Amino acid sequence: MFSLALRDDAHLAPLETWHAEEFAAHLDRAREHIRPWVGPSFVTTDLAGARATLARYAERQARDGTCLFGIRRGGTLVGGVMFAAVEAATGNCEIGCWLEPAAEGHGLVTPACAALLDHALVERGFHRAEWHCRSDNERSAAVAKRLGMTLEGLRREAWPYEGKRYDKQVWAVLAPEWTAAKS
Ligand SMILES: CC(C)(COP(=O)(O)OP(=O)(O)OC[C@H]1O[C@@H](n2cnc3c(N)ncnc32)[C@H](O)[C@@H]1OP(=O)(O)O)[C@@H](O)C(=O)NCCC(=O)NCCS
Repeated sequence: MFSLALRDDAHLAPLETWHAEEFAAHLDRAREHIRPWVGPSFVTTDLAGARATLARYAERQARDGTCLFGIRRGGTLVGGVMFAAVEAATGNCEIGCWLEPAAEGHGLVTPACAALLDHALVERGFHRAEWHCRSDNERSAAVAKRLGMTLEGLRREAWPYEGKRYDKQVWAVLAPEWTAAKS
């Protein structure tokens, strides 16, 4: 119910607070794989932490539309995509994504992100969607490129991780570019 078919028996659906146990089990499979590349508050270690993340997103969704969607393959939660930031007043948003290792390399995240871009740039009439990633995150940058985003710049040493600072890439696609690419 309320899910969008992706490929290979994979579906995209809202990820909500009541999914906490499933999300915690997924994080046990994903944690070390995603740790270097996502915000530290997302990488929790137990059920309470997983529930707190989902509750935080639910509160933000009520406020501004920031929200999470899970990708399930064969009924198992294997990753997801999100509106990481939503600014309705300016028509700007930021999307993001993650997968557990077994789900990587199956073309799941690009169509899931395309669904978010359709929602933001077509349905809601937003003008701009951004993608932020560590500049050495080649797989993430490849998704942005596949989505037709443009690399706009680098926030130098904006990403601290384990005592070192990394550059952060900012990619974006504008609504007319997204519409033109789709047609
Ligand atoms: C970023 C991340 C989600 C990208 O995942 P991904 O699987 O590479 O991306 P997609 O889901 O779009 O899949 C594309 C890959 O699937 C392959 N693929 C297999 N079957 C496919 C199909 N039917 N259609 C399209 N692609 C397919 C593609 O060839 C490509 O793999 P390749 O790059 O090795 O050639 C993943 O690497 C990840 O979770 N990393 C850790 C967390 C992270 O970095 N999150 C982003 C923070 S900014």
